[in-house]
Amino acid sequence: MTTTSTTALDEIQARETRHVLQTYRRAPLAFVRGSGVRLYDSEGREYLDLLSGIGVASLGHAHDGLARAIADQAKTLLHTSNLFYHPLQGQVGERLASLSGLSRVFICNSGTEAVEACLKFARRYWFTRGEPRAEIIALEESFHGRTMGALSVTSDEHYRAPFEPLLPGARFVPVNDPAALLAAVSSKTAAIIAEPVQGEGGVRPLTPAFADAIGQACARSGALLIADEVQSGLGRTGQPFHFATLGLEPHLVSVGKALGGGVPVGAALVGDEVASTISYGDHGSTYGGNLLACRAALCFLDELTEGGLLDNVRRVGRLFEQRLRAIAAKHPFVKEVRGLGLIWGLDLSMDASPVVPAGLAHGVVVNRTADTVVRLLPPLVITETEADEALGRLDAALGSLGAGA
Ligand SMILES: Cc1ncc(COP(=O)(O)O)c(C=O)c1O
Repeated sequence: MTTTSTTALDEIQARETRHVLQTYRRAPLAFVRGSGVRLYDSEGREYLDLLSGIGVASLGHAHDGLARAIADQAKTLLHTSNLFYHPLQGQVGERLASLSGLSRVFICNSGTEAVEACLKFARRYWFTRGEPRAEIIALEESFHGRTMGALSVTSDEHYRAPFEPLLPGARFVPVNDPAALLAAVSSKTAAIIAEPVQGEGGVRPLTPAFADAIGQACARSGALLIADEVQSGLGRTGQPFHFATLGLEPHLVSVGKALGGGVPVGAALVGDEVASTISYGDHGSTYGGNLLACRAALCFLDELTEGGLLDNVRRVGRLFEQRLRAIAAKHPFVKEVRGLGLIWGLDLSMDASPVVPAGLAHGVVVNRTADTVVRLLPPLVITETEADEALGRLDAALGSLGAGA
């Protein structure tokens, strides 16, 4: 029996404990069904989803258009490999190019692979110029993924230490410290990599002054800029990309998460200057950009550009900001509210771990990151009414902790 819908939680847990590598500390519940911003667990309980599977279920759950597109593609053709053309990869490239201004795309299967591709392309650029540079300047509190290259530019010691030695040449500077960045970048720097809004690091948008310093440092040293928009990009901030809002002009951009709406797909977006240094065989992926992934991405991109998603994020984002500030004023252990659009963090004066089970008990899914931060990444389709209800549940969940906090 392979279905989960009727399987009790203890049976699901027991089987996983025996046969799934124990790399995840899961909350003790199993979701079996979703609809829009609502999730349902194996015991039939309903939740409002303010996390969307860490920023992935951008169109909500069981989205009609996405479900139809996936089913239609499955009945037509799923995969042929990158040894042959198919009609959809170029369409995804065209759409991402028009949104980002970067002319070419390399499609892969996840955010970490998108970052990995950007790091390789940056190395290739300097190699082709006959001036190999290996230094990458990354930011403290950064998160770029778990493969060896992406991990090398991820700052958290806890993730890094068991896997060292990592790529040589990665150096970290404090986020939003323009002077430190300007001092660190030199003619040895191959690339600066930055998340326009740091996600895992606790929802920290880059400041305009820091973005200016990145632009100056690149202009002065020739270093490439990699904007990691895996979490912040594709509508999450109310714009296609947050780098544009900051006035940055990256040479490479990584995307993932929202792009497939739940179908695994990531991409490295590559400007002309770097693209002209890449040759046949420099990079590849068996699955990358197959018909299923591209069909899902096209469905998401249609919703983003023609389905009113950006307006929705801006409108509901304003409500999030108001409600979260009111929540912070009410619960003294909420120190700071950070974010924009539909990416928000509540920084607490204590470990945020207890907020997750309290949220679940009140029927709302949130996440804890960077120890003290409650992170919210709702589906981009969430309505004001749904947001209001979900934030009411979060308020109640925080209230239930208040006495002990
Ligand atoms: C900014 C950023 N880059 C890269 C990644 C890695 O993406 P994935 O988990 O799809 O490999 C993440 C994941 O959270 C991320 O937030």
